[in-house]
Amino acid sequence: MSKQPNLMNKLTSLAKRRGFIFQSSEIYGGLASTWDYGHLGVELKRNVKNKWWRDVVTAREDVVGMDAAILMHPKVWEASGHVKNFADDMQMCRHCQKLVRSDHVWGMIEDSDWYRSLSDMYLKGDVTGADLKKWGETKAKKLAPNLAIARNPSVTISWLAERMEAAKDSQVIPMRELVQYLATEQLKEDGLQTPCPRCGGELTAPRPFNLMFKTHIGPTEDEGSIAYLRPETAQGIFVNFLNVQAAARAKLPFGIAQLGKAFRNEITTGNFLFRTREFEQMELEYFVQPGETAKWLEYWSQARLAWYAALGVRPEKLRLRPHGEDELAHYSTACYDVEYEFPFGWGELEGIADRGTFDLDQHAEFSGKKLTWFDTQSGEHIVPAVVEASAGVDRTVLTILTDAYHEEEVPSTGSGQGKGETRVVLRLSPSLAPITVAVFPLVNKDGMPELAKQLVDDLRGDFSAFYDAGGSIGRRYRRQDEAGTPFGVTVDGQTTEDQTVTVRDRDTMAQERVSLDKVKGWLREKMGS
Ligand code: GAP
Repeated sequence: MSKQPNLMNKLTSLAKRRGFIFQSSEIYGGLASTWDYGHLGVELKRNVKNKWWRDVVTAREDVVGMDAAILMHPKVWEASGHVKNFADDMQMCRHCQKLVRSDHVWGMIEDSDWYRSLSDMYLKGDVTGADLKKWGETKAKKLAPNLAIARNPSVTISWLAERMEAAKDSQVIPMRELVQYLATEQLKEDGLQTPCPRCGGELTAPRPFNLMFKTHIGPTEDEGSIAYLRPETAQGIFVNFLNVQAAARAKLPFGIAQLGKAFRNEITTGNFLFRTREFEQMELEYFVQPGETAKWLEYWSQARLAWYAALGVRPEKLRLRPHGEDELAHYSTACYDVEYEFPFGWGELEGIADRGTFDLDQHAEFSGKKLTWFDTQSGEHIVPAVVEASAGVDRTVLTILTDAYHEEEVPSTGSGQGKGETRVVLRLSPSLAPITVAVFPLVNKDGMPELAKQLVDDLRGDFSAFYDAGGSIGRRYRRQDEAGTPFGVTVDGQTTEDQTVTVRDRDTMAQERVSLDKVKGWLREKMGS
């Protein structure tokens, strides 16, 4: 059930207000589930990507990077299994004609207003068939008009009553079963119906729907010209395994990392940046001796979990969850997800998977090329196994924004910062914040703007610095709090006298005076650099 849905709305609105993220093509009414990054968003996203690249590639001697084309030979996707297996089971509602992913049906039902109204009544206890009939004729008619209980209350209730009678002395009918009874007008061979989460109507049987976006290369749009927008960056690495390994003279264990766009024709999107059709991935394929995947899976799972905490995300909101057998992708034998507790529940940020030799074996078979590595120790050519760490840039940005969002009462002792109001503050880690330091002249006269401009120009060489002279100083602080800017510097009347400025810490709102020539040092110390 959705928790704190309000927070996502507030975050979406702040993201727009401050220039982090906008709805794509907004002036045309928007394109569902696609988002554009504004002037602050693009910096935050770049900082995330730079940090990943530094930590996973440049700071390590065992990983190199690469950047493959988005369009690849269509055979790549046959070999990888995406043409055959990269599909979600989908169902269509016979009434409202909307599609729904089979594995999302119950989650969406339990998130709906009609389910909430039903469970509020039912879980109070002592509910009779007549109560349910009445619910069907009133609430359900409005909220889920195509539920059987709303369309034909008498038929549905007669055999539900029998079931309720049978259950009377044993246990209560579970909610999901009750929903199915209320959704089933006529019992078919496949038993009780699970309804459309949106309108309560009957759903078709599940059918696979491939998630790859198809396009055509060249002027003719026929079978021979089909190409796909890549649904993951990983395959660009596998097909370049020999090129990169040979050119970099890499020895096992070693990794190849890539960062870039991926596209999936997702059916159920939503929750802001969480599930979109166009997104960026940060993927590492780590090649190891085939017997060593368990060790490296453990290593990378722990390392990747720690990475999110190092971004400043609260550790208690992060967890590592092993996949059950039934969740594993077609290529994987073991997998952990790094998850974050969003306002809408726990969600995957990154998958760390043991892909074995699946990908190199498949590409060797489909291309006819030998994709092996010569092990000088054993004197044999071996197919390396792979441990993959695959993260989403946009989900990381969403995590950082969600985790950083705070509303707090401003203490009444705050100096000139607004009394007794609520301030919205993004507690972004200083190393990720789009603006590190904002510089303000207290008032727009007496030489203060000139001094402040001089200072901001000087700071720009070393930090992301921003000059703001618009509005009261309190309003300027608020704007920077919402932008997540960790430090503020105010040039005031005293500056012209003693060459000192006021520096302000976003989180504590504490202020102190620092000499103009010490501002850089003060910032460096605060940034821990
Ligand atoms: N190469 C393996 C792979 O692509 P995945 O679990 O399908 O694995 C990896 O995707 C990561 O990519 C996810 O953990 C998530 O962060 C991100 N991701 C996947 N689909 C996404 C979508 N529709 N919208 C935003 N991010 C997505």
